[in-house]
Amino acid sequence: MESIKNVPVHVSIIMDGNGRWARERNRERVFGHSNGVESVRACVEAAAEEGVRYLSLFAFSEENWARPESEVNTLMELMMKSIAEETDSLAEKGIRFIALGNLSRLEAHLREAIHGAELKTMPPEGKEPRMTLIVFLSYSGKWDIMQASAKLAQEYSSHPQDLASAPMSELEKHLVTAGIPDPDLLIRTSGEQRISNYLLWQCAYSEFLFVDKMWPDFRKEDFRAALAAFSNRDRRYGKVK
Ligand code: IPE
Ligand code: IPE
Ligand code: MG
Repeated sequence: MESIKNVPVHVSIIMDGNGRWARERNRERVFGHSNGVESVRACVEAAAEEGVRYLSLFAFSEENWARPESEVNTLMELMMKSIAEETDSLAEKGIRFIALGNLSRLEAHLREAIHGAELKTMPPEGKEPRMTLIVFLSYSGKWDIMQASAKLAQEYSSHPQDLASAPMSELEKHLVTAGIPDPDLLIRTSGEQRISNYLLWQCAYSEFLFVDKMWPDFRKEDFRAALAAFSNRDRRYGKVK
């Protein structure tokens, strides 16, 4: 297999289409979610193999709380199960795990499991992880900008006259993604071509790739094909080349 040039530092994926994938097979939506776990495993492996430094996955949006309670519960159970089953293997591979979002809305036992996995996969002092795997849970882009703005306003409360001239980096340091480079490549599966309130601020200059496959069908070769497509993009950032 030919090696891919210009590998993106940060790849982000909106993992969509689980419900439709299940429906096509006359199964319940949750069957799609459980089959999506294998796609996560495949992409984590492929990303680490190709030298991607950050892989982030949109697993559950703030809006997804409005789904039927049984589906929400199944998704949270799948998250618990995946953390229990995958943490050791991530740690062995030098992959750091973190979860970002409005985590206060999660049940305490899931928050504790997340915290445990974050500690277990934290690299030793002074050592960089091979890759960082970020799972966005109970996340929305507007929520992130709101909570960061509130923190920024609080920080400037003793000198509000300086707020209007604060550099953008002052807001960025309060986003949940502070310290993480913005996604270079954003992939969305299932044929939908929208951002669904995901990383609004951080995707300002990301390259978007919309893929027709449903998430449970998205595997290593699809991930590699996405990297190959990215390597042909011409990023100009508003400038003339
Ligand atoms: C993505 O698949 C998983 C989540 C949003 C949690 P969907 O559940 O949205 O599947 P479709 O889009 O209805 O097919
Ligand atoms: C976006 O998918 C959220 C996740 C993949 C976690 P949705 O299925 O919720 O998005 P919409 O409703 O089609 O925009
Ligand atoms: Mg969907």
